[in-house]
Formats: sequence, structure tokens, C-alpha cells
Amino acid sequence: MAWSLRTLPTLNQDQFAQWGKLLEERTGIQLVFQQKAWLESQIYARLRDMGFEDYDNYYQFVAEDSIDSKLEWARLIDRIAVKETSFFRHRESIEYVRSYLQQQINNQSLQGSFDVWSLGCATGEEPYSLAMVVNDCFELAAISPYYGITAMDISSSALAAGRKGRYSKRRTEQVKPDEAKRYLQACTDGSYEVVSKLRDRVCFTQSNIIHARQLPQVSVDVIFCQNLLVYFRRWLRRDVLNALVERLKPGGLLIVGLGEVMDWEHPEMQRTDDDQVQAYVRLNH
Ligand SMILES: C[S@@+](CC[C@H](N)C(=O)[O-])C[C@H]1O[C@@H](n2cnc3c(N)ncnc32)[C@H](O)[C@@H]1O
Repeated sequence: MAWSLRTLPTLNQDQFAQWGKLLEERTGIQLVFQQKAWLESQIYARLRDMGFEDYDNYYQFVAEDSIDSKLEWARLIDRIAVKETSFFRHRESIEYVRSYLQQQINNQSLQGSFDVWSLGCATGEEPYSLAMVVNDCFELAAISPYYGITAMDISSSALAAGRKGRYSKRRTEQVKPDEAKRYLQACTDGSYEVVSKLRDRVCFTQSNIIHARQLPQVSVDVIFCQNLLVYFRRWLRRDVLNALVERLKPGGLLIVGLGEVMDWEHPEMQRTDDDQVQAYVRLNH
């Protein structure tokens, strides 16, 4: 019988636990039992394409340490990682970066280049939204220091879409008309492309945030990390955030999703008092 006509085999509880454990060990993403049917369909699509007979054989393969297994794992993650995003998804947070930078420009306290990280950047809408506000600030002030957005994600297909920088009309709905006029270019197929002066500022790179301590030893001005930590256990959220603090310049800004981290404090970080945004500033000492 053709694969496509077969009913989807179910993962038993042990198999679900085994897959969940592997996923969490490798990505931090924690599955809940309600996601079982969805996980089955994602795994099954891959195992069928790869010609495996059942979940166990496929599991043995992806759990191996070979290059082929690693490639297959990357393809599976492309399917499993939730890549939901939009331009200006949480506008208040993006606008907070605008005011933060504006203040530095007004105080003349910019320290050389202005560097931003967008972690779990998905298909690029978030880093491009950040690039829009940063570019706005520098154009308004008529200054042109170096600035760059480093956009990181575990999913290579998401990163590829981000590098392309082309979005359907529906996906650009949250971009205001005046922003779209400046930063999006209509394409003949009805989609919109981010203008090259912004695309050139955004560098997409594959990273696994659970290994945050291995991220480049640089100091950045802003770390933006929304709708990613929420998939992790609480201890891992705290661990990642502690590692991120060390990548911020003194006075640097960390923004997470509102309510995504409830019980994190750090002696070098001070929560800002805007209750529409969950932002922390690294103390200057
Ligand atoms: C729901 S999207 C959020 C996108 C964007 N930050 C936003 O708020 O709109 C979560 C992204 O995190 C990525 N991701 C999941 N686990 C990751 C990990 N361990 N390291 C890096 N990225 C990860 C996923 O591939 C996905 O693109």
C-alpha cells in the first residue's frame, strides 16, 4: 500500500517520551502531551521521505552522531520548531529600542557601533523591524555610525527565508504605511522585499541558544529575545539569560517577551519601569 494511503501510526507513550527527551536535550524545546498528534505527523512526514519503516528505526538514525544523522535532525527541526512571527509583533518592545537608541543619540553616549542581537529570529520579520527603527533613528539624527543586527535561529529554513527578505502582502500588514514606503519594495508577484540598505545590515546565522555561553565573545547594545524562552524549562530560561548578560555592553538593553520570564533576577541587571515591556538594563560598573 502507498505510504500516503496508510493511517498515521501513533507514537506510544514511551516513544513520545523518548522523542521529547531528545528534542529537549538538543534544543531546549519542551513538548506537552497535547502536541503528540502534531509531533507524530511531523516525524512521520520525515521518516516516510527517508524511507524508514517505523518511528524506532528513524529515532535510532537521528540519534546517531553521523553527518547524515545531523543533516536529517536539522530537517526535522525545521518542521518541529514553531516559527510563528510577524513584523512588529510586539510593537511596544520594538519601539522601546527606538527610545533607548534615541536617548543615546541625544546624550551623545553611543559607544562606537550599535549592535543588536535578535535571538530566535524565525523568518526575519523581527530583525528587520529592529533594523527599521534603528535606521530611522540614525537617519533622523543625520549620523551614520556602523550598526548591525545579528539574527540567530536554530532553523536553517527560517534563516534562508530571512536572508531572502521577501514577504507576502499579508505578512507585512503590521508595517505602518510610512514604514512600508521607506523600507519595503513591491515585487511584480505581489510580495514585498525589504530594501537592500536594511538587508545589508542584518546578518542571519545559525545558533542554538541553549549553548548561549558559546556565542561570540562580543559586547552588544541590545539583545532581543521574544517568544523563544517560553518553550524552555524555567531553569534553562534563567541559565540562558545569565549567559546573555555577559554579552551586553555596560548600559546595554535586554528585552524578553512580556511575562515570559517571571522569576529571573541578576545582580548586574535592572528591570526598567515600563510595564508594557519586559526590559532590563545592564548596570554600568
Ligand atoms: C515562535 S518563533 C519567535 C520568532 C520571533 N522571535 C518573534 O517573537 O516573533 C521561535 C523561534 O525560535 C527558534 N528556536 C527554537 N529553539 C531554538 C534554539 N534552541 N536556539 C535558537 N533558536 C531556536 C525557532 O526555530 C523559531 O524560529
